[in-house]
Formats: sequence, structure tokens, C-alpha cells
Amino acid sequence: MSEEANFRAEIEDLRERVRYHNRRYYVEDAPDISDAEYDALYKELESLEAEHPELVTPDSPTQRVGGEPLQEFQQVRHAVPMLSLANARKLEELREWDARVRRILGEDEEPRYVTERKIDGLAVSLRYEEGRFERGATRGNGTVGEEVTANLRTVRSIPERLDDDPPEVLEARGEMYMTLEDFERLNRRQEAEGKPPFANPRNAAAGSIRQLDPKITARRPLTVYLYGIGEGGDLYESHSAALDALKSYGLRANPYKLHDTIESVMQECEEAVRERESLPYQIDGVVVKVDSREQQRALGSVAKAPRWAIAYKFEPLAGRTKLKEIIVNVGRTGALTPQALLEPVNVGGVRISRATLHNEDYIREKDILIGDVVVVERAGDVIPQVVRPVPEERSGGEREFFMPTECPVCGEPVSRPEGEAVTRCVNARCPALALEHIIHWASKAAMEIEGLGEKLSTRLFDLGLVKDVAEIYDLKAEQLVPLEGFGEKSAENLIRSIEKSKEQPFSRVLYALGIRHVGNVTAGLIASSFSGEDLLRGVETERLTEIEGVGEVVARAVVDYFALEDNRALVQRLMKAGLNFEREAVGAPEGPLAGKRVVITGTLSRPRGYFVERLEEAGGTFTSSVSKNTDYVLAGEEAGSKLERANSLGVPVLDEAGFEELISQETVAS
Ligand code: IVH
Repeated sequence: MSEEANFRAEIEDLRERVRYHNRRYYVEDAPDISDAEYDALYKELESLEAEHPELVTPDSPTQRVGGEPLQEFQQVRHAVPMLSLANARKLEELREWDARVRRILGEDEEPRYVTERKIDGLAVSLRYEEGRFERGATRGNGTVGEEVTANLRTVRSIPERLDDDPPEVLEARGEMYMTLEDFERLNRRQEAEGKPPFANPRNAAAGSIRQLDPKITARRPLTVYLYGIGEGGDLYESHSAALDALKSYGLRANPYKLHDTIESVMQECEEAVRERESLPYQIDGVVVKVDSREQQRALGSVAKAPRWAIAYKFEPLAGRTKLKEIIVNVGRTGALTPQALLEPVNVGGVRISRATLHNEDYIREKDILIGDVVVVERAGDVIPQVVRPVPEERSGGEREFFMPTECPVCGEPVSRPEGEAVTRCVNARCPALALEHIIHWASKAAMEIEGLGEKLSTRLFDLGLVKDVAEIYDLKAEQLVPLEGFGEKSAENLIRSIEKSKEQPFSRVLYALGIRHVGNVTAGLIASSFSGEDLLRGVETERLTEIEGVGEVVARAVVDYFALEDNRALVQRLMKAGLNFEREAVGAPEGPLAGKRVVITGTLSRPRGYFVERLEEAGGTFTSSVSKNTDYVLAGEEAGSKLERANSLGVPVLDEAGFEELISQETVAS
């Protein structure tokens, strides 16, 4: 093989591996390598492609960053119209529907039903030709939609190529959505960047897809569940077979259940209502479909909806009520957040009397006035939000909201930096910051002090027993026993869980400190490179940004934090109290080749993937180019420039036998 062909094969091999892991992770939710390993593979591919831009193909997994912005969307006519669904609001209506289905099908036919969750997102069509993703479109009015191919190419759960043996034209249809967690994270990012937050995950998903600039879409955490086939759908004899086929092609098919009776369908709907709040994404109902294609054809469609399907719709998680007052909370980072006090309203079984209004700009943009009737929405555990006012209901007595110029807790002036949406109290000694910090410190994600929740923290703070987080560790059981609700035993339990928190790893401590922009992942990254002593001694931003995954903003926040005298004093007190500030060794690989970087080149007796797998099992990392950091080169027949380079750099070269010998060694405990 020529060197060029060899290289091409290598790059394609790597792409194939990234694609495989993409499918495991984004489509099947079942990764079989760690995130770090995946990142390493991906970076490897990126760097190879950067060295050889002429070999970059549009279907490479790295090309999901988004192309050039569009002036406007092209219109697309759907070859098979994208229908909507008839709705059932009550379970009984499903029985009526079943009776109608049976009447049309006649006595000789027994319908079988498929149920799926009805996902609250945006309908899209994905057209694959010869197994390649060629065109993506929104539903639009069902007949004509908008072409959003470039945007959909940035979505990781939409593969560029299909596996198995798909039909020549396959137009998969489904729902684009955003998980609640991703939605919250996106909104936090929007706010941090001074941009307006989205009202709900559906709007966030829709707004992300209908973006003229695909680079923006690429930064939005979108995913898809496919629930049907447009063109090409006639090839499958049932809906369930079509969904199974989608799955075998490597597409993310909506999970489904089969039912022989409408009673079983109704039970499933009841189950889904219960399940609704615990799902990681929003659903607004259950879709019931007749499974057999032949029966579907016999049933046909009326107006814009098929007779063979129906949506059982849940109560909306939105309600209307009066916004009585707007108060301002001060968070742990000093952020002033306006909160709506509402006349209590029942939204999907939960009584809501408060909702967030995000920030000043949000209130202004949505034209929300104190005294307005407003629409509130909630979703899972996400804080309920005021979505919009109902101006038709105004009486004239409503008034505008103004952000206070002084902190409502400490009275010091607040500041709102240019270009930011958030107003902050910048007084480091503001009690609001201290209390919020104590609550954060004890929380599950931080130091996980069992028994020290928000209520007790507030009480201890108000009583002056705990004025900052270090004082948690000065608490004595005797101080707690006299408090209402405490006995000897419960006091001792709390002291014990406080003591136990001292065993938490440094990454937790670092996260618990509440440094701006340092979430638990970032804290983990930093804690594996530096100890508390290092940070106190002073680490430069450049050293922090050397850590993979730590950017300028984070680095600056960490440096600023440790530069401040008050913070340094706090950290020193925590060290004295016995908390863990030791640098962590996280996820260090194990095996005879642990931490070794190995290049594989030339023609070997088996596919390269085999050797890469063996290498990774042995704890090693596969890299593509030889440098002085390479530990070994495994060279097969006709190894070209890499072998030469290894020789000139003095990197040990192995043949297959040498490689086998190396990986079969026992790990020597050090
Ligand atoms: S089937 C002909 N299945 O609900 C059948 N739709 O009005 C067409 N949706 O805009 C739709 N989850 O985007 C179907 N599992 C699911 C769905 C689903 C959400 C949306 C769909 C459409 C609307 C139906």
C-alpha cells in the first residue's frame, strides 16, 4: 500500500471507530468506553484531519460543527404529507376510538396497538438516500416545511450514515427535543452570556433548529427520537417492524409497547401520567397507533389526521394566575433574581405560588407587569417559570418592575456589568452569600452533609451558630441539643455526618467552595492537577488552561478566588478543620500498558481495530502520529514514514509478537 493509501485507511479506520462509539453513546445510550477515552479518539481524528485537510470528508464525525450561515431557509415539499393526530383528552375517548377502528376494520380483523410516548418537541423529517443523510426538514404545515439539513447535521444522535441494509430512500420522521437537564444548562449559559432564556424545552429545541447559523445549532444540546417512516415506509408490514428497522439502521427509535386490547392501552396511558414527571424529557401524552400497515391503509385518513392513530393528551403543565408581587432573591454567587409571587394555582397536580422571572431583561422583553394575569409553566423539577403576560386581562392598575439599586439583603450597592443580564451583589461579606454558600456546601452534589438541608442551615445561620461554611466544623452536639426538634441522638447524628464530610475528595471541596464557573466536572479536572496548597500558593491562569477542558474564564475565576484575602483565610480554616485538599488521581488507567501511548502502523495480520482494542484493554492509548511522547510503535509489513520517524527518535518498535508479549505481562504493583 502506498503511504497515502495507508494514511487514508488509517483515518477511515478511526472515523469508523468514532462513528461506532457515537452510535453507542448518542443513539443507544449505552457507551462502552469512558467519556475520556471517547474524547481521546475524537481528538486523535481531529488532529489527523488538521494535518491533512485534503482528506476531510463531509461525513466525517468531526464535521458536526456547522457550516456557513444561510440567508433564509429553502422550502421543501414532503413527498408523503406529515400528518397530525386526533386528540383524546379522556381515557374513555380511547374506547370510542377503538370501537370506531373495529367497526371500520370489520369483525374478522383484530387490531393490535402500539403505544409510544408523545414527545413535546419539534417534528422533523430525515431523508436518507443510499444510507446517507441527504436532507433534513421541519414539518412546517405538513405539506411544505423548511430545509434544515445543515443544522441537523450538527446533532450527534442523527447519524450521517445508516448501518445494516436500509432501503434506497428512507425518510425517517421523529421529534427533536432537549432534555430537561440540557435545557436548564442551556438557560444558565444563555443568562451567563447575557442572552434571554427560553421559556421551555420545546421552544429551546424549535429555536435551535430554526437557526440560520448552523454553528449556533451545533452548540445546542439537541437530540431526536424517531417514530415513523414517510417515504420508504410501505416496505414494512407493521409500525413496530418499521421502528425495529429504524433501530437496526442505527437510528434512535422511540421506544414502544404492543397491546392486544384497548384496556391495556388505557393502563399504559395511566402509567405514563405517573411516569411523566420522572422522565428526563418532556412528554405531553401517549400516541396510540394501529400496528398493521394493511389495517392502517384500510382505515385511511380524514382531513389532516390518520384514522389509525390517536394522541392521548395529558393535562398541560401550564396555568394562568395573577402575579401579585415581584421580589428579589440574592443567590450564592450574589446574583439578584426576580421572583414572581403568584396567587396559588394548580399546574398538573402541583400547587405553584412562586415562579422565576430570570432577570430584568426577561421581564422587560416579555412586557410583564406587577398585577398582570400571567401564564406559568413547569417541567419536571425545573423551577416554574412565568412564560408571558395576558395583556387582554389588564385593568390599568398594573405597574412596572424596577431592579433595586441596593442589595435587598445587605444594603450595599449592586452592579450590572456591561453586556451582562445579571445584576449582582458584589459585597463578599453579604449574609445572603454566606447562607446560600452554607446551603450549597452541605448539598448532595457538594459535601453531602446528611441532615443539613436548607431549613436547618437557615436556622443555624439565623441563630448565629454557623456564620460561614468553616463554622459548620466548629459545631458541637451540646449546641444543637437545646434546639427545638433536636435530641441527643439527632444532634450526634448531625455531628457525625459533618465529620464524615471531611472524607470527601478534594474535587468535592473545590466544587463546594462555590467558585464562579467551577461546576463539579471542572472541579474534578482541577483537583486532579493541583492540590489546595498549590492553589493557595498561587497558580497562573496559563497553568490552569493547560488542563484539558479548562478555559480562560474558569481559570481566571479560580485565580481571582484564591487571590482574595477573605477566601484564602476561609480555605486555611477549612484545611485546619481537617478537610481534604489533596490532589486526586482520577480514573488512572490500569494494565500493563497503563498510560502508554502507542502508534500502530503498517499491514498487520488482523485489522487494526483488533490491535487498538487489545491495546486499550491493556490500559494504553492509541495515537496516530509518532512524536517523542510516543512510548511504542507497533509496526507491521511495509511500515513507512512512521517507522522511520520512530527509529530516528529512538522510540521502541515492536512487531506483533513483541506486542503480544508486552500486553500479556502482569501489571507490577508499584
Ligand atoms: S406520530 C401520522 N408519534 O405530535 C402520525 N407523533 O400532532 C404522525 N409527536 O407534530 C405523528 N411524539 O411531531 C407521532 N411518538 C410520536 C410522537 C408524535 C410526538 C408529535 C408529532 C406531531 C404531533 C402530532
